[in-house]
Amino acid sequence: MKGLILSGGRGTRLRPITFTSAKQLVPVANRPVLFYGIQAMAEAGIDEVGIIIAPETGEEIRAAAGDGSDFGVRITYIVQDEPAGLAHAVLTAEPFLGVDPFVMYLGDNLLQGGITELVEAFRTGSPDALILLTPVPDPEHYGVAELNDGRVTRLQEKPAEPKTDLALVGVYMFTPGIHEAARAISPSARGELEITDAIQWLVDQDRRVEPHVVRGWWKDTGRLEDMLEANRLVLDTIERRVQGELTDSQVEGRVVIEPGAVLERSTVRGPAIVGAGARLVDAYVGPYTAVGAGCRVERAEVEHSILLEGSSVRDLPARMESSLLGRDVAIRRSLGQPRAFRFLVGDRSEIGIV
Ligand code: TTP
Repeated sequence: MKGLILSGGRGTRLRPITFTSAKQLVPVANRPVLFYGIQAMAEAGIDEVGIIIAPETGEEIRAAAGDGSDFGVRITYIVQDEPAGLAHAVLTAEPFLGVDPFVMYLGDNLLQGGITELVEAFRTGSPDALILLTPVPDPEHYGVAELNDGRVTRLQEKPAEPKTDLALVGVYMFTPGIHEAARAISPSARGELEITDAIQWLVDQDRRVEPHVVRGWWKDTGRLEDMLEANRLVLDTIERRVQGELTDSQVEGRVVIEPGAVLERSTVRGPAIVGAGARLVDAYVGPYTAVGAGCRVERAEVEHSILLEGSSVRDLPARMESSLLGRDVAIRRSLGQPRAFRFLVGDRSEIGIV
């Protein structure tokens, strides 16, 4: 069995971060989202992994994940020329996948507990496809499944009036019939070859499509609030490890301080992680915060936020929270006259002022 991770796409909902970087490399608890998917494959015993990449962000993803040896898998990169849909990505990967059954995993998704149990269920039951589902309060925003007698009978992408609350989770298991299905369907109203349409085609052909309702949490990190929520969920599982250099500082609860981080007169209240070489001076870092490598927090308070490497937050008159800072972002109080806000902000940035 092979693995296919989709790490192309446009990432419009996470702009401006995705203007310069792949969303799959945004860190959750200081580790790129994508790495959780690769690790889940490795843990399920899948060692041949194809990663779909976009021409714009592919190099960065290659540089981050490499040949896969750090994870114990072999990675093949597959360039998808345009983000023409999840079923288009499957077709693009056909030469790599051949006639093998495979697990498809959306590279910006996180699934608690990994995929080992699902891969087992797929191997044992050998259906034509196995899809993962989870109940959600707002099914109209997802692909939604209808079931009958242990089989999937209908799939609809973002239906205005959903018949069930069972949303499709971004992990799927397929036999090679899916290639035939992806070739048979036409682009949707938004111009994409939809995986829901391809699976519906399998259902219509009387192929066996089985559901599996996941028990743990699942997160699609496509939007800021989901990214922060994923960070919260993963930080909730970390174990305390304090290796940095602490002077007159307190570290409370489940906190990771990486080697080379320096804390002076600061408090970190977990769950939180502070990356290697970060520097906190007269700072408060509150729960559910991931401070990336080499960041600076000085005379400022930060909570429920993700700071990518090299960013700094200094001299803030109020606590910063629910924020995502890209790489090398600098936020500081504007001193000197005239007293004014001063911004150098890229397209589609969002700033909230107290
Ligand atoms: P989405 O989040 O559905 O799409 P997107 O990345 O284009 O984002 P947005 O809607 O914000 O513009 O994609 C889910 C995952 O699949 C994500 O990791 C990107 C990947 N993907 C591909 O690899 N190829 C594609 O053609 C598409 C549409 C997505």
